[in-house]
Amino acid sequence: MIPMKIKDNVYSLRSNHWDRKMFDELVPLPEGTTYNSYLVRGAEKTALIDTAYPPKTASYIAALKAMGLQKVDYIVSNHAEQDHSGSIPAVLQMFPEAKVVTNPRCKGLIRDALAIDPRAFIDVKDGDRLSLGGKTLRFIYTPWVHWPETMATFLEEDRVVFPCDFLGSHLATTDLFAHDEARVEVAAKRYYAEIMMPYRPHCRNALERITALEPEVIAPSHGPVYDKPAFILDLYRQWTSNDVKPEVVIPYVSMYENTAAMVEYLTDRLVERGLPVRPFDVVAVDSGDLSMALVEASTVVFATPTVLGGPHPSIAQAAYLVNILLPKTRFAALIGSYGWGTTMPDVLGELLSQFKPKFFDPVLVKGAPREDDYRALDQLADAIAEANAALAAD
Ligand code: FEO
Repeated sequence: MIPMKIKDNVYSLRSNHWDRKMFDELVPLPEGTTYNSYLVRGAEKTALIDTAYPPKTASYIAALKAMGLQKVDYIVSNHAEQDHSGSIPAVLQMFPEAKVVTNPRCKGLIRDALAIDPRAFIDVKDGDRLSLGGKTLRFIYTPWVHWPETMATFLEEDRVVFPCDFLGSHLATTDLFAHDEARVEVAAKRYYAEIMMPYRPHCRNALERITALEPEVIAPSHGPVYDKPAFILDLYRQWTSNDVKPEVVIPYVSMYENTAAMVEYLTDRLVERGLPVRPFDVVAVDSGDLSMALVEASTVVFATPTVLGGPHPSIAQAAYLVNILLPKTRFAALIGSYGWGTTMPDVLGELLSQFKPKFFDPVLVKGAPREDDYRALDQLADAIAEANAALAAD
């Protein structure tokens, strides 16, 4: 790790984790990730903004030593999760006089996980300022993006905002800045979908607060730094808005090709009616790909055979994911084949209890789909197309 200059006396200290495959054993990382810490040197005081993930502590501390730092006065902790706070004890060992600057809720969560003396903390309230000498840090509470204690730090003189996870991306890279916008957009959208989407109203609040700061640079805790903030702010404005795109996502599983035949037929009829369709065979799907597809799609159709009365377990898992990620999807439907009876809609309905789009009537087929079943799929395609057309006319 080498320090990279963002502004005079403001440096990025980025721990790249090139080969990390999963985050929290939950989120696939096709491009690895980073844990970003930042160093801000004022005329009188020096501050670190966030630290690093515990397995990266040794290289992080080595980088601080290589910089020849004589002292660190403050360690600002914007978020208690260990990928950013986990190296705080090692920094305190190196600089015992340093104070951990954070909000009381974050302090509590950090102390739940790490053995840090409570006297090492300085509490800050929303809007508080901390002068480093010619560089002033202002603390902006941005709760629930994505934990209850999350906050951002604004370096006033340089107009750099450090929003921690918010606006970040899981993308290991040596590029300091997000100049490869196509690549960063995908990584940032995946990050939003999997981490931030369940907190969409809170994201909108945080977005307003950060936009109002008129930052010149946004330096998140994962992925590259935004030296053109409008790029990520505009994307978040779009993703967190109530607007959806006329698109149908179909998570599906088929065991004897009957449900697959229904998916193929429905896909063709929807395309004929002008709707883009994205089917996902969820047996081996990357949950991040499915989550990303749901960020803006207007419609989702779950397609599953009946297994022991309910949906196939892989569809149950996809439904559970949708139910916790809470995409802004407006319309939904269930289709599928069964052998001798089914309670699939009841079971899936329970799994989707928090997900509140308008549901169309399910299309359930005994065995292989026949003429009447295809007419029912025609009607479902009509209903989906009409609903999307009405949305576009709003
Ligand atoms: Fe990157 Fe919520 O930690």
